[in-house]
Amino acid sequence: MTPESALQLQKLGHECFIQSGAGLKAGFIDAAYEEAGVTVLPDEGALFETADIIAKVRPPSEEEAKLLRKGQTLISFFNPAGNTELLEQCKEQGATVMAMEMIPRISRAQKMDALSSMANIAGYRAVIEAGNNYGRFFTGQITAAGKVPPAKVLVVGAGVAGLAAIGAATSLGAITYAFDVRPEVAEQVESMGAEFVYLDFEEEQQDGAATGGYASVSSPEFREAQLAKFREIAPEMDIVITTALIPNREAPKLWLEDMIASMKRGSVIVDLAAERGGNAEGTVPDEKVVTDNGVTIIGYTDFPSRMATQASSLYATNIRHLMTDLTPEKDGVVDHDMDDDVIRSATVTHEGEVTFPPPPLKVAAIAAQKPKEKAKEQTPEEKRAAEVAAFKKQTRTQVGLLGIMAILILGVGLIAPASFMQHFIVFVLSVFVGFQVIWGVAHSLHTPLMAVTNAISSIIILGALMQIGSGNWIVIILAALSVFMAGINIFGGFLVTRRMLAMFQKS
Ligand code: NAI
Repeated sequence: MTPESALQLQKLGHECFIQSGAGLKAGFIDAAYEEAGVTVLPDEGALFETADIIAKVRPPSEEEAKLLRKGQTLISFFNPAGNTELLEQCKEQGATVMAMEMIPRISRAQKMDALSSMANIAGYRAVIEAGNNYGRFFTGQITAAGKVPPAKVLVVGAGVAGLAAIGAATSLGAITYAFDVRPEVAEQVESMGAEFVYLDFEEEQQDGAATGGYASVSSPEFREAQLAKFREIAPEMDIVITTALIPNREAPKLWLEDMIASMKRGSVIVDLAAERGGNAEGTVPDEKVVTDNGVTIIGYTDFPSRMATQASSLYATNIRHLMTDLTPEKDGVVDHDMDDDVIRSATVTHEGEVTFPPPPLKVAAIAAQKPKEKAKEQTPEEKRAAEVAAFKKQTRTQVGLLGIMAILILGVGLIAPASFMQHFIVFVLSVFVGFQVIWGVAHSLHTPLMAVTNAISSIIILGALMQIGSGNWIVIILAALSVFMAGINIFGGFLVTRRMLAMFQKS
């Protein structure tokens, strides 16, 4: 909890408590909590006794688990798959446990996804640590004292942490390269100003993508191609940040001894996979080591803790959003809705039952981008036939619609006066033409279409222009104002459209 998140929690109708000194190392003193309306309790015992919902970072210790009582909810990282005994204990105590790492990766739950928030911090901090140990600038400079080349940074694994590292490295001015087995991230990498390292291994690289947005183990051939590429670029790289992980496995070894040996003295490797064995050979978890050829390998596993204030703020926000889902009525009453995908997935014990593992999600994870199926190659005859069929179908629909319209108009004409009919026909035709035109526009172009429509709708400027010659000064002023404002709409509308369309153009 941060003082900021406590304010939000109170808006949900909750009363907030904190253990004295809990925020100290993250820069939040007890007084700041008190100011935010939080009651500071002297120790853990008092806290577990008073609060109905306990939120913490690490899994509970055995002693803490013993303090849990029936009906109480614990929210924390828990590692339920590797903590069966603890899970059993919490169940016995009758407590509900929500494991933060079990928050599903669906778009709705992104704001509660603490794994992502922490990976983001780790990626950023990796660059800062690298910079701290690298004796040169990231950015290139030409100064009176000489020319400084920009640093070259390679990020291996462009998941959440990797993308954060890319963002930090490019913003410091380094030339950044990135590699990932999932080719769909190439676009994200490039949009962040880095260069994607492609392999000459088309087919297999496509297969690197696995369900859930995570990678799967690559084939030996693919691995060889990847290592060969790394071997080729290793001597040029000043900083290598590795983040490659595969769920439930040891981290793949990707940056081997010979690559490290070929790197320049003073280069830095930051191995974010150190906790799971490391991507680089020679990584020592929690340590910084320097190889014989002067390459520093950083294997710290506590990057988020090295940015405690930031980590606490983001984690507190994740918890606060989870509490929002748990308190739908904002009345301080928790509704533990096991039909809610997010709540269900995160809950590992509930009402005296172990509810882990959760059933598969009803909605597919947004991350699970299935590799696009390649359309079968059609022969020219087939293509032609398909085009003709599509054209015929379209014509039939259009003629049908026109027919229905004609009948309707004739029907109305039987009763309506002639002056009405003139306007009515124009109206009906404009609806038809407008519909046909807009229907044909690709969805991705709807926003620019709106902008240009906005510009065109300023045809109302005609009304103002017609009035501007009027003798009455009030009318003149109003007309001038209208011309001015419609003018902004016209020029602005077209300008915005132009800029938007430019975004769709490939250079
Ligand atoms: P991660 O920490 O499991 O892995 C990091 C990266 O390493 C991944 O991009 C993976 O493809 C890559 N990798 C694995 N083996 C590799 C190898 N041999 N060589 C090079 N790279 C390798 O993954 P992370 O960062 O937790 O998330 C992965 C993806 O999940 C994200 O890119 C995103 O698409 C998705 N995601 C979706 C969320 C949501 O929908 N709420 C939230 C967070 C992530």
